[in-house]
Amino acid sequence: MKKLVINGGYPLKGAVKISGAKNAALPMMTASILSDHDITLHNVPELADVRTMMTLLESMGMRINKNHDDSLKLNGAQIESKFASYDLVKTMRASIMVLGPLLAKYGEAKVSLPGGCAIGARPVDLHIQGLEKLGANIEIKDGYILASAERLKGSMYHFPIKSVTGTANILMAATLAEGETKIHNAACEPEITHLGELLNSMGAKIKGLGKECITVEGVENLGGAEIKIIPDRIEAITMIIAGIITRGELTIQNINPLHMRQPIELIRQSGARLEIFEDSLFVDGSNEILPIDFETQPYPAIPTDIQAQLMVLNAIAEGDSKVTETIFENRFMHVLELKRMGANIRIAGNTAEVRGVSRLNSAPVMATDLRASAALILAGLIADGETIIDRIYHLDRGYENLEEKLSNIGAKVQRID
Ligand code: EPZ
Repeated sequence: MKKLVINGGYPLKGAVKISGAKNAALPMMTASILSDHDITLHNVPELADVRTMMTLLESMGMRINKNHDDSLKLNGAQIESKFASYDLVKTMRASIMVLGPLLAKYGEAKVSLPGGCAIGARPVDLHIQGLEKLGANIEIKDGYILASAERLKGSMYHFPIKSVTGTANILMAATLAEGETKIHNAACEPEITHLGELLNSMGAKIKGLGKECITVEGVENLGGAEIKIIPDRIEAITMIIAGIITRGELTIQNINPLHMRQPIELIRQSGARLEIFEDSLFVDGSNEILPIDFETQPYPAIPTDIQAQLMVLNAIAEGDSKVTETIFENRFMHVLELKRMGANIRIAGNTAEVRGVSRLNSAPVMATDLRASAALILAGLIADGETIIDRIYHLDRGYENLEEKLSNIGAKVQRID
């Protein structure tokens, strides 16, 4: 089992480049099912989840060329199988996003239910409800979603709660449905807006991207397209926090500040000095760290995917703070590990009460999910001594070469077997 060993106490200084967004790349890869022409994606992050999605799509017959740099060219013209097996889907829940495109293009799909994960039950009932509203016949049998449809028909679907991949599935399915579809209470995350921009460049007719109501006029077929994937806002915020808590001075490049306005405003309340430029920002972590109360909410509010990382900032802030997780029911696993490192955190339902301590102590800890593993790395960067983080396969799913990026800006991080 691979582990990360971190020697804490070194301020991060220099410049770090942010990779393409995982949660934009994954739906865009499944969107290539909708067309018989080349879909070329640039700025694709080198991640385990991207490799898993490539394996899944290739198992269906998708042809994928990985160019030497960070580009993927996908072509779905030879797709035969409309099957996504449990052993692939269980390793990556985002596999569920092949369901809508397969139904829209081929009228059939057999996709494993993703099952739960560490941060919660994570059902896909809304994906299924939405596709049924578009006329799909869906049956759940032996842990699989068996879906079929003559041709999907445009309809109205109102998400009872916002769902990022749920919106992606319905949006992609609607592009080839007959007639108009209205998606109400749609997710407004930049990754979904960017998926919609790719679909429109393929010939789809989508209006209202980034708003709560998205309207899609179905078309007969979609063509090829080429697009550069947006920067990963979650990685960017993770790096900002790293610069602050290590009292460093970091330039974070290849970002889109417009995708993280509220997180930037919240982090400024902690006393950090941030200078924002068009596609980069400078963070100076020399000021005293003040505690910041926040609750996670759908975009454009504070994303749940940075909750664990922000909790590390609060763990060493000068005072008390409250963190409320409203998206997932079990996304405080990192708290137990942080407490083992000396953090003073009390959980009360979906709220964590944090009392800042002067320092964290190194300890052997274990990653439980992608973002929790990032939080443990942040804690290791500032803890006294050597922190060993186990099960870092979670990390490899969503962060490209994180230890290399951190080492290049002064962190003492190494991977061991
Ligand atoms: C996406 O997951 C992201 N993953 C997650 O990022 C992110 O944390 C999450 O959105 C919230 O922003 C990808 O984009 C690949 P949801 P998703 O559907 O779409 C409930 C990471 O670290 N729900 O928006 O699965 C659900 O249980 C990952 O990169 C239903 O009840 O999340 C949750 O409480 C982790 N029924 C809430 O909605 C459904 O059918 C929001 O989930 C669907 C969702």
